[in-house]
Amino acid sequence: MSAATITVLPGDGVGPEVTAQALAVLRAVEETYGHRFTVHKRRVGLDAIAAEGVAISDSTFEICGQSDAILFGAIGSLPPGADRGVGPRPEEALFRLRKEFGFFANLRPVRPFEALYGASSLKPEHLKGADLLFVRELSAGLYYGRLESVPGKPSEIRRAPHGTEAVDTLLYTEEEIERVVRAAFEIALLRERKVTSVDKANVLSSSVLWREVVERVAAEHPTVTYEHMLVDACAMRLIRTPSEFDVVVTENLFGDILTDEASMLTGSIGMLPSASLGTRRTAGGTFGLYEPIHGSAPDIAGRDRANPVGAVLSGALLLRHSLGLTREAAAVEEAVEAVIGEGLRTPDLAEPGSTVVGTREMGRRITDRVRSAS
Ligand code: NAI
Ligand code: MG
Repeated sequence: MSAATITVLPGDGVGPEVTAQALAVLRAVEETYGHRFTVHKRRVGLDAIAAEGVAISDSTFEICGQSDAILFGAIGSLPPGADRGVGPRPEEALFRLRKEFGFFANLRPVRPFEALYGASSLKPEHLKGADLLFVRELSAGLYYGRLESVPGKPSEIRRAPHGTEAVDTLLYTEEEIERVVRAAFEIALLRERKVTSVDKANVLSSSVLWREVVERVAAEHPTVTYEHMLVDACAMRLIRTPSEFDVVVTENLFGDILTDEASMLTGSIGMLPSASLGTRRTAGGTFGLYEPIHGSAPDIAGRDRANPVGAVLSGALLLRHSLGLTREAAAVEEAVEAVIGEGLRTPDLAEPGSTVVGTREMGRRITDRVRSAS
């Protein structure tokens, strides 16, 4: 039996709809396998701004910090006209969580289900055997200067003698590279033992350092095969032969773009989970934040149309990485695949011959499956 504390931050839009299903699945795991999960539910984003005046309150933050894991839904932007550049902004909640808890490794598994090959943008023969895990660096690189003004990392539009110019800084310290590369090699040991490190070492200094660090970490992991790949070649090979990849580790911007590209292999953005991990250890693994990769989807919110699978699979990652419940994580993943295999689809994946159901029914069927499969 494991006892664990989970903070649930449903957020806005479809966030509450999909996290409710993910939580129901975790509750089914708790009962079926005899664990005890203490759950705290708190507001974030627009919801928190409306009720508490801030995107995430200090007390919510504290509760997150005392938990083993955070299950996150999605947060939306301020409505058009409401963002006057003053006052709290909903996305601050996520930035603050990532920064203060040091979540530097963003794991995004991409494994197209055979039953959904028809929904993918690739032909089935190219999808066969595809099972990738992206490890995206989340705490540094080009995006960082935008969040605040960091000395030595300018990110601004400015006046220059010959007209206006703009600058962003792609800065990585050796330590920032090493910790994410190390995480990738350690995860590869649990998978197919292959790491593809993606960079642009033919033009970027930061990529030259990145490669040096990869060489050093690789030497400590002789049973893992590895390769370096330029990001442009990777973008092409991802949609030509996705099955050639196992673990893909890369810096922040490249990872952002490549994972959106790869999400199309699975048929819908609603399918993909993610885990953001730092270094704090929990009783069963590593403290982390788990969320579907999609946003608040205001166009379908409140209509029982959102695909809850990305959130449910995020719950499976939570079980595996923060609670150390490997068997239970696999049971959730198998339940999702079985229900999809039976032809059940939310509207984003509707195809001829499938049974189209809502968010709640999809969640209920996955939950039933988890209970009956043990
Ligand atoms: P989005 O991911 O919310 O939606 C993109 C498209 O995918 C929409 O057509 C939507 O209906 C569809 N979609 C998304 N999730 C789905 C699901 N579970 N099932 C079925 N269809 C789904 O991205 P968008 O529209 O660019 O952004 C909407 C809001 O979400 C914005 O305010 C944005 O800032 C925010 N956002 C928040 C994120 C987060 O909380 N981590 C991440 C990305 C965007
Ligand atoms: Mg993105």
